[in-house]
Amino acid sequence: MGLRERIVEAVEEISGRHDQQGLYGGPAGDPGLTGPGSVSWEVNGDLGAVAAAGTAAIVLEILHPSVIAGVEEHSSYREDPFRRARSTMGYVLGTTFGNTEAATRLIGTVKKIHGQVTGARPDGVAYRALDPELIAWVHTCIPWMIMTAFERFNRALSPAERNRYLAEQAVIGRMAGADTVPVTTAELAEFVAAVRPRLAVTEQTRDFLEFLQTVPSDGRPSWPVGAAVHRLTTAQAHFNVRAGMSLAPPWARRLTGLDLSPAMRSLAAMPYLGANARMIRWAFDVPPHVAMARRRALGAGRGAVAVAADG
Ligand code: HEM
Repeated sequence: MGLRERIVEAVEEISGRHDQQGLYGGPAGDPGLTGPGSVSWEVNGDLGAVAAAGTAAIVLEILHPSVIAGVEEHSSYREDPFRRARSTMGYVLGTTFGNTEAATRLIGTVKKIHGQVTGARPDGVAYRALDPELIAWVHTCIPWMIMTAFERFNRALSPAERNRYLAEQAVIGRMAGADTVPVTTAELAEFVAAVRPRLAVTEQTRDFLEFLQTVPSDGRPSWPVGAAVHRLTTAQAHFNVRAGMSLAPPWARRLTGLDLSPAMRSLAAMPYLGANARMIRWAFDVPPHVAMARRRALGAGRGAVAVAADG
């Protein structure tokens, strides 16, 4: 097996293989929710950027005490974190590259799951996942961090491209149940500033962040070499999370304590995150979901011109 295949296999083991015909194939000429020629197809088509953005997006999402309460009370992420990673990745890719009907159905399915996610936070405040503000916050963290990773590790976007990307992704956020989603970088800054006073690190947040940095021992003999290796991989997991958080704004790094010195961030964390992102992009080249979506959209006259422009 060549190096490329090894990398693809390792990435897919964690985040799944996204090549379902029913989702990415479909009616010839169907552009899906964002479409060929969109900024979304270029940005979310860079699997390296999407992967690099994951940690920062998740941590930002769960800084809302109502989100972490819902996740801690209703999610199965502790039993099977990889399944959760696969379904989240499937959502991000499926909504951008899937055919219109299947992407819409996917959003509907997840909305149905969210309909069950209600309860009260430990401080007594009632929450429901379908609260438009919570949906808007969780939605926004995803394109915000993917765009940040893409610009860091791929290419700079023009101000107009950034706005187009946010506006394209906002369609998905609104379909998921948000009322108002930022559609420009100015609105993004305003929205983050408005939500920020409500963000906090609670006991539940601390538990989640601890889990994110925990490496299971797999029941292997833990003494003496196993224990040392386990300590090292745990230390690496701590570094990985801090490296991922290097994409998040300074206030979020300070709030979570998932911070590094500026020197470590620029000399170690960013190059490490960037090397991983470029390695994944190189290994996948054109990921299967992108190739399938292009073929679908190109399948009839109306998609052909735009796909050519998409490169
Ligand atoms: C647009 C915003 C959101 C997106 C894109 C999103 C994404 C997803 C996806 C893809 C699933 C399906 C996972 C599966 O297949 O099992 C899911 C389930 C879930 N979501 Fe969300 N979510 C959003 C908002 C929220 C909010 C605001 C909360 C909490 C208040 C929340 C809590 C949950 C929980 C508890 C589950 C149950 C499944 C599990 O994690 O095991 N989500 N979400």
